Amino acid sequence: MNSKPKIPIHLKITFLISIIAALALAGFYFYLNNYLTDNTFNRIKLRLEREASLAKTFLEKDFSGIFNYQELDAFSDQVGRDLGLRVTIMGPAGTVFGDSELDKESLKTVENHLNRPEVQQALSSGKGVSRRYSKTVKKYMLYLAYPFGNDHVRGIIRLSIPLSDIETISSRLKRVLIISLSFSFAAILLVSFLVSVFISRPLREMSWTAASIARGDFSNKILVHSNDEVGDLAESINYMSEQINSRIQEVISSRSRLEAVLLSMFEGVMVVDKDGSILLMSESLKKTFQVTSEFIGKRPLEVVRNIEIQEIVDSVIELKEGVESREITLLLPDEKIFLIHAVPVTRGNNLEGGVVVFHDISELRRLEKVRQDFVANVSHELRTPLTSIKGYAETLLQGAIDDKKNARDFLEIIHSDADRLAKLVEDLLDLSRIESGKLKMTLKPCRLIPVVERVVSLLKKQSGARSITIETDINKNLSMVMADEKRLAQILLNLIDNAVKYNKEGGKIIIKATESKGFIIIEVIDSGIGIPEKELPRLFERFYRVDKARSRELGGTGLGLAIVKHIVHSLGGEVSVESYLEQGSTFRFTIPKA
Ligand SMILES: Nc1ncnc2c1ncn2[C@@H]1O[C@H](COP(=O)(O)OP(=O)(O)OP(=O)(O)O)[C@@H](O)[C@H]1O
Ligand SMILES: [Mg+2]
Repeated sequence: MNSKPKIPIHLKITFLISIIAALALAGFYFYLNNYLTDNTFNRIKLRLEREASLAKTFLEKDFSGIFNYQELDAFSDQVGRDLGLRVTIMGPAGTVFGDSELDKESLKTVENHLNRPEVQQALSSGKGVSRRYSKTVKKYMLYLAYPFGNDHVRGIIRLSIPLSDIETISSRLKRVLIISLSFSFAAILLVSFLVSVFISRPLREMSWTAASIARGDFSNKILVHSNDEVGDLAESINYMSEQINSRIQEVISSRSRLEAVLLSMFEGVMVVDKDGSILLMSESLKKTFQVTSEFIGKRPLEVVRNIEIQEIVDSVIELKEGVESREITLLLPDEKIFLIHAVPVTRGNNLEGGVVVFHDISELRRLEKVRQDFVANVSHELRTPLTSIKGYAETLLQGAIDDKKNARDFLEIIHSDADRLAKLVEDLLDLSRIESGKLKMTLKPCRLIPVVERVVSLLKKQSGARSITIETDINKNLSMVMADEKRLAQILLNLIDNAVKYNKEGGKIIIKATESKGFIIIEVIDSGIGIPEKELPRLFERFYRVDKARSRELGGTGLGLAIVKHIVHSLGGEVSVESYLEQGSTFRFTIPKA
């Protein structure tokens, strides 16, 4: 804003009017002063002329015959007194016969007046006028001279008046003029001040309101109701203020709506301005990049520390059109894969900035990999028994069938591999049924002990073969569980089967159940070979086996624990494992109480 000191408009108007008035009045004064001075002088001159010609007439009448000095002097004294002027009468040769200002004695010594300019003029042209210093009376005077005499010039009569008298009159007039003009000036000043204050009041109010609008305060309205341009302007400002206010409110609300949408978006969103500085980052993106400090106004590289993201932002801002897409892998510190789309934001041909959207596709990629691995695993698992079946069948066909003893062994291998295939297919079907939710489960309260006993008796043969003892530690009064009995048995069968398979010769298995809030916790504890700690997180994945060769040798497919996990989850429980190498493992799962 302007920092120069402000001069209020009413003072400006007053100042302007006073200058104009002063100039006009000064011009008026000079004109009038000149006029009055001239006029006064002319009037006095005219008076002198008239009076001189009157005196001349008297002279011509009274002194037509004789010419008496004494009388002439008395005449001039008389007339001078009557008119309040100096009257001088001279002979045609310039000898002064009478003078109203001189006594008889001085009259004798007065010098000849013939060469006085007015006398010379009067003699040559019949009338003489002059303004000059009088040596006789020692004053500046106005002289007027006429020759007199009826047929020839008998003398000259001269009337004079001190110029100081004229000046006195004109200066008195001048004073009156100055006083009246000063009064007029003061009146003009006062009136113009009042008028300008009156005119500028609405302007002041408007300027004050406009300033408060500029500060963002829309609560003030201009209260000017004059029916003229000023009133129109006030109305326009009020309307403009309302419009701006409502537009601002609209912008604010749409902006906050947009911000709320952007900030709460699951996808990460980054908005940059036309220079590539960050304007906004969604909560999810801040969390992904662990941004805790201020980021607004910084370059993406400074905030997310990734050169690829900076490149995308730069290219979008440079190209100003199209969509830029890229897949980037970040270590944050876990590996995450993002598909990034960046678009420039333009208005007309002008670039306003850019928007970058981050889709986290890590899970998608992981699932893709799981699927690929699964297909590879399934094919592999199917191929082994199939190759074996095909091989033995061919051997039999090529004649081994006649060797009774070998033929029987081969057929047994074919049979067991076919079983293995059947189990594999059965397990896979189970898994896919559970995963797709197609596995039928009838949840009803059931007692745990009979289920455990049935499973243990099923595994008696295997455990007995390796002298493994199986104990149960379940309170007879244990609450019933809410489960599908068949599926519960499937869980236990898998876990106890593993506990037998991965146990040591003469090992021990304990099946324990305890109650907790809302759940029954079932533990299958073995004294087997244990599982290395780093394998534990992946243990429940499909086809995952710690020791592939051993598991396969034992007829395992690596699907057992995956099935366990899925069934437990679909029954509403959790499964976990704790294991120490060479000491044994504990598999623990929960089932809701009935
Ligand atoms: N009680 C245990 N002690 C030691 N290792 C175990 C135990 N239970 C499971 N494992 C390990 O976890 C792997 C996965 O077990 P899972 O039951 O899923 O497959 P499997 O027993 O090999 O085959 P399947 O159960 O399909 O016959 C096993 O191969 C084994 O290495
Ligand atoms: Mg198993």
